[in-house]
Amino acid sequence: MSMQLSLKGASPVAALKNPYIKAFEEHPKNFGTTAVAFQRARLCRKRILDLGCGNGHFLERRLSESPSTFGLGIDLRFKRLFRSSEKLADFPHGGCLHMDIRDFLRESPDQFWSELWVQFPDPWPKDRHAKNRMITAEFFFQVFRTLQVGGRFCFRSDAIAYWKLLQDLQSRHRLFGIAIYQGSDRFESEPSTLFRETFSKKRQRVFSVEFRRTH
Ligand SMILES: C[S@@+](CC[C@H](N)C(=O)[O-])C[C@H]1O[C@@H](n2cnc3c(N)ncnc32)[C@H](O)[C@@H]1O
Repeated sequence: MSMQLSLKGASPVAALKNPYIKAFEEHPKNFGTTAVAFQRARLCRKRILDLGCGNGHFLERRLSESPSTFGLGIDLRFKRLFRSSEKLADFPHGGCLHMDIRDFLRESPDQFWSELWVQFPDPWPKDRHAKNRMITAEFFFQVFRTLQVGGRFCFRSDAIAYWKLLQDLQSRHRLFGIAIYQGSDRFESEPSTLFRETFSKKRQRVFSVEFRRTH
C-alpha cells in the first residue's frame, strides 16, 4: 500500500487496519476528485447528490429507475463508500467521493445540482459535538447556491432539531420559493435507505422537508 494512498484518506496506521480504504481508493466508481466528479456530472442534464450516502441503497434504486441521471454519493466512511461503489458498478453515470459534505458543497459550482438529498444525518445532540452537525446556516446557504433553479432539496430525519432549524432558516431568509414541512416521511414513495428501514422497524417518527428553488 502506497504512502500516498494512506495519507490521502486516513493515517497510514488506519489505512493498514481498514482494508476498505484501499478497496475504495482503487474502486472504478471512486471519482477521486471534485474536478472529475463535476466533469462527469456535466455530461448529464439531471444530477442527483446524496450527501451522507451510507451504503448506497438510495442511489442504486434512483439510478436504476433513471440510468441517464448522474448520481453522486458523498461520505466519510470507507466501508460505506465501498459498498455504495459496488452497487453503482453497472451505472454509467454513478459514483462516489470520500469527502466532508461541507467542503464538497463549498467546491460545488453555482446552480449545479437538480436534486440534493440529506437522509438521516447524524444528530449530534450534545453541545460539545455541535461542530459535527451537518445542518447549519452555512449549509442552508450552500444548498440554495448550488441547486439549479427548479431543483429541489429533500431532507428526512428522525432529528426534530434539524427539522426545526431548517424551518427557522427558511422563515428568516426566505430563499426558497416553495418550502414544505411534514411531520412524517414526505418521501415514502421514493427509494428507502438503510437508516429509513431501521427507523421504520422501530416505529420511530420521521420528519421531512422539501425546498424548491424557484429563482
Ligand atoms: C446516519 S448515516 C445515514 C446514511 C444514509 N443516508 C441512510 O439514510 O441510510 C449518516 C451518514 O453520513 C456520513 N457523514 C456524517 N458526517 C459526514 C460529513 N461531514 N461528511 C460526509 N459524510 C458524513 C456518515 O459516515 C454516515 O454514513
